[in-house]
Amino acid sequence: MGQLLNIEAFSKTQNPIAPSAPVLRMSKKQLRAQAELFIEQFPGETSYAVKANAEEGVIETLVQAGITSFDVASPFEMNLVKGVLPTAKLHYHNPIRSKEEVALALYIYDCKRFSVDHIDALQEIYEQANNPKEIEIAIRFRMETKSKAVQSFKSKFGVLRDEATYLAHEAQKMGFTVGLTFHPGSQTVSPAPYLEHMAEAHDINNQLSKEIEFLNVGGGFPSRYEGIDTAPLTTFFDAIRKAYNSSFNTSKVTLECEPGRALVASAGTLITKVKAARRDRHELFLNDGIYGGLMEFHQFPDLFPAYSTPKGAYVEADTNWTVYGPTCDPIDVLPNTLALPSNLQEGDIVEFHGVGAYSTATSTRFNGYGAIEVQMV
Ligand SMILES: Cc1ncc(COP(=O)(O)O)c(C=O)c1O
Repeated sequence: MGQLLNIEAFSKTQNPIAPSAPVLRMSKKQLRAQAELFIEQFPGETSYAVKANAEEGVIETLVQAGITSFDVASPFEMNLVKGVLPTAKLHYHNPIRSKEEVALALYIYDCKRFSVDHIDALQEIYEQANNPKEIEIAIRFRMETKSKAVQSFKSKFGVLRDEATYLAHEAQKMGFTVGLTFHPGSQTVSPAPYLEHMAEAHDINNQLSKEIEFLNVGGGFPSRYEGIDTAPLTTFFDAIRKAYNSSFNTSKVTLECEPGRALVASAGTLITKVKAARRDRHELFLNDGIYGGLMEFHQFPDLFPAYSTPKGAYVEADTNWTVYGPTCDPIDVLPNTLALPSNLQEGDIVEFHGVGAYSTATSTRFNGYGAIEVQMV
């Protein structure tokens, strides 16, 4: 009987509102390796889509590896990037912006690139820009593709071919520097959706009296997850290079991409702790779950990360556990059972690998959990 925790010692060393919070360990070496792969082998400029992981240390590491251009979705992300690299090039590729956000982008953050998928958005930038020639407008188009990504992106943003042609034409008339952009969906498994979109971009370009000046092929490049076979990134780069060379070979169209997931996912390991193991029911309760760093695996059950327990301390992974997160909500459960040792107990560690993207970035504070500590290592 009696007090299990030495409260005085505890409050000197640990956070009393988030004891044993989960940790996302980000490997700087792996971040640098992915950045170098894109910089050296993608046949154009690579921007980082900050939304995938907006940790300052992640931005710093990517900048050290040579990334100088960033896809940003909000003034918060612009501020973050400019704080790390004041000369960073910003692509405001979230096509929904208030007038206030347009003004902040133009006049506080020196943002010169905006994506557009509606005439009103184009008009708003025109009204506020001093010199349209200095501003780049990326017309966001979409299309039905035969091959699908794990997460489709076509329902919220982008316009079909005819409207894209109209918007590009209007933007050119206003004096902007005009290009095209698309997003093939997140976690594509082959280059096919890029090639279909690039053929569409070629057709849109052909309908314009003046050629576009850049083509941004978006994010969507894959990372490694359990049970999903993907082509290597170099296969994507080779196919995109070939399509670019054959469709835009005589032109001055510059090529760009803006990966989020493929730059940062593989660098992240989420270290969770067992809060309770109900062995008779094969139920494991972790200190993180689908309201925290594992949200994507609830939204997209086809995606699942590799997982393990640290070597040595346990018996073989001989039990299929149903794994719950720490909140009271019954949906806070992983979609698959995990094969883990049967002798797991409170305080033991379960690690999820390759979860550096859309983990801390989308985690909520539901029930007071979700304060994931990020360690750059
Ligand atoms: C405009 C834009 N670009 C790039 C990305 C990054 O996509 P991914 O993480 O699939 O590479 C996103 C993701 O939401 C996006 O909306």
